Amino acid sequence: MKRLFFLSALFALVCCSSPKSDMDRYVDDLMSRMTLDQKIGQLNLHSSPGFISAERVTEEDENTKMLREGMLGGIYGGSNTAVLKRAQEIAVEAGAGIPLIFGMDVIHGHETVFPIPLAMSTSWNIDKIERAARIAASEASAAGINWVFSPMVDICRDARWGRIAEGAGEDPYLGGEIAKAFVRGYQGTDGVFDTDEVMACVKHYALYGAAEGGRDYNSVFLSRQEAMNGYMVPYREAALAGAGSYMSSFNEFEGIPATMNKWLMDDVLRKMWGFDGFIVSDATAVVEEVAHGIGDLQEVSARSLQAGLDMDMNSDGFVGTLKQSLKEGRIKEADIDRACRRILEAKYKLGLFEDPFRYLDEGRRTERVFTLENRAFARELAGECQVLLKNDGVLPLKPGTRVAVVGPLADNASAMMGTWTTSSRRDETVTVRKGLAERTQTLYAEGSWLFRDKETEESVRYGMMKVFRPDFQAPGVHEVPQAVLIAEAVAKAMLSDVVIACVGEIAEMNGEGASRSDVSIPDAQVELLRALKATGKPVVMVLFTGRPLVLVDEDRDMNAILDVMALGTEGGRAIADVLFGDVNPSAKLTNSYPRSVGQLPLYYNHKNTGRPHGEYDAYKKFVSCYIDEVNGPLYPFGYGLSYTSFDYSAPRLSSSSVAMKGSVDVTVTVTNTGSRDGDETVQLYIHDVYATSTRPVKELRAFRKVHIPAGQSADVTFTLTADDLKYYNHELEYVCEPGDFEVMTGPNSRDVQTVLLTVK
Ligand code: NOJ
Repeated sequence: MKRLFFLSALFALVCCSSPKSDMDRYVDDLMSRMTLDQKIGQLNLHSSPGFISAERVTEEDENTKMLREGMLGGIYGGSNTAVLKRAQEIAVEAGAGIPLIFGMDVIHGHETVFPIPLAMSTSWNIDKIERAARIAASEASAAGINWVFSPMVDICRDARWGRIAEGAGEDPYLGGEIAKAFVRGYQGTDGVFDTDEVMACVKHYALYGAAEGGRDYNSVFLSRQEAMNGYMVPYREAALAGAGSYMSSFNEFEGIPATMNKWLMDDVLRKMWGFDGFIVSDATAVVEEVAHGIGDLQEVSARSLQAGLDMDMNSDGFVGTLKQSLKEGRIKEADIDRACRRILEAKYKLGLFEDPFRYLDEGRRTERVFTLENRAFARELAGECQVLLKNDGVLPLKPGTRVAVVGPLADNASAMMGTWTTSSRRDETVTVRKGLAERTQTLYAEGSWLFRDKETEESVRYGMMKVFRPDFQAPGVHEVPQAVLIAEAVAKAMLSDVVIACVGEIAEMNGEGASRSDVSIPDAQVELLRALKATGKPVVMVLFTGRPLVLVDEDRDMNAILDVMALGTEGGRAIADVLFGDVNPSAKLTNSYPRSVGQLPLYYNHKNTGRPHGEYDAYKKFVSCYIDEVNGPLYPFGYGLSYTSFDYSAPRLSSSSVAMKGSVDVTVTVTNTGSRDGDETVQLYIHDVYATSTRPVKELRAFRKVHIPAGQSADVTFTLTADDLKYYNHELEYVCEPGDFEVMTGPNSRDVQTVLLTVK
């Protein structure tokens, strides 16, 4: 404790006018008193004992021993405030007395869980996404966490990749807007961390979402130019928004693992974009470089540090080998100092030197966490994250409708939570069964297994438990025969006016290590859907998923499809709000939904090729298309229906040409032609017709979500400048090239109207 007071006094002493120079002087002074071991210790991050929620800190814990020896700069994965507090006490009493930073995977909320990030992105509501991040920050910081491993901003064009669920879809521009919203929400905007704000950690840097074949951790093969114009955009935007830290990714790029990739970390992130925070590796990513075939742990640790990595998560590569590398002259002390300084600066910015316990107030949890207000917002946001993919008029349901709510996901709280929740309150999660039962007469049936194959079902459901707890005894699956489950669902359907069929993917089918080669609704559930259709009752499919699925048969057979993905704590109520029409759906897809797996990767902003082919044209020899499938998606990027309808005018320009330094207004009139008020996301795309490098056929460059009362029209105006038309040319210069641009507006990426703009 004495050391803590000494540190606080020192902090007060060195404080003077300019915050930047205060920090420099403070860190200079601190580092001048640190031993080499203590500096290396700062570069080490461990998961907390028990990982998810540590119950105690004991003298025997490996982390306790390392803390006493000053060998840890931070701990992640614990949200038990008392435990974190004890760990902090040990840290500030030991070695150089430097407080720990406490990290956590806070991905889509903390105890109040919001829709999974992919679902959140379908709201296209940047303010609400920022607010969700703010609430997550407030709840996580109340537990003592000051650093969150989010936002995950990896663009993904391949539905096979399980982690597509954790990001914002396929579009760089939308991804960038959402990345900034998360950073603002977590960190605040005034440059000072209050105790309800936390440091963001943007991940996974970089290009992780381009894993070949959608197989997790797989290699990435892209040109630098392609990367910079697409996948890199959200990382850039997060850096420009002031994100405090980044996490390196598992994949390699250009033959160099990202975790030791100097071009990515130093040349682009730091030098080109001016990022001045610290970079942590992903968990065990440093030691994994050995399997990548780069060298032994000492070699890969040295190379990672020199390439710009500052903190090693869970590999003990830095703490175990850097001293030796320094002795052997493989690295310089300045390399260690540089990384150590960046971590100390982060702690300084978080106010931890001023008060290491400022986040560790056990009383805050009751005030801030899982409040009625937070839950009400979770319901509101979830209402905006449900994409209506098809509706033959069965929705919205009329009051008093008798509903059969069936399917293996109808009463499944963990599926409603979705992937990556570490502190959620499963028991208080509202399932669809519960949400519907609160407002109408319901009959429930589980309806089916997940998969026909028992082993597949077991390994999907319990695969993670088996990895983390080798002694785990999986409960039985398939105990009730599929035929019995289906018969019960059919009987209940017959007694109801409408069937709400809750099917799709459980949370374990999404996220890390959850790639799929067949992105369709699992077979056992398809059997259920067929049996329900055969009843002749209207069937509304409520789709749980963490990725775009192939839904060709369901689009043909179901009366309505509501894509809810995984909506979090209040999901069931929010779904009932939409099904009964209290909320008019307004979400729009942020990925193209394929017609078949063979189309993957599939994305709207593709290149034209020299032999282009209409998206929905039939097969033709010697053009770029398939013999057995059209090129276009089943549902395009930006698509989503409403209970009302909108009509779009052609876009109008304030001037048909614009100077490099000028601006031009693009206006489109949108009319609500239905009988209900509705929200519509108006989208603007560009196409650079002639450029020095090939450009995508369309690129989103602006959007606005507007509320339009029934029967009324709204003029939506976007102002474009040369900045909006820029791209990285072949030399990686960020330029707007003069010439013609097509400017397109519309309700989604497919149904657009075009006007020509000349940039002079
Ligand atoms: C591995 C994951 O890739 C990353 O997203 C996560 O933040 C870390 N583990 C820590 O849990």
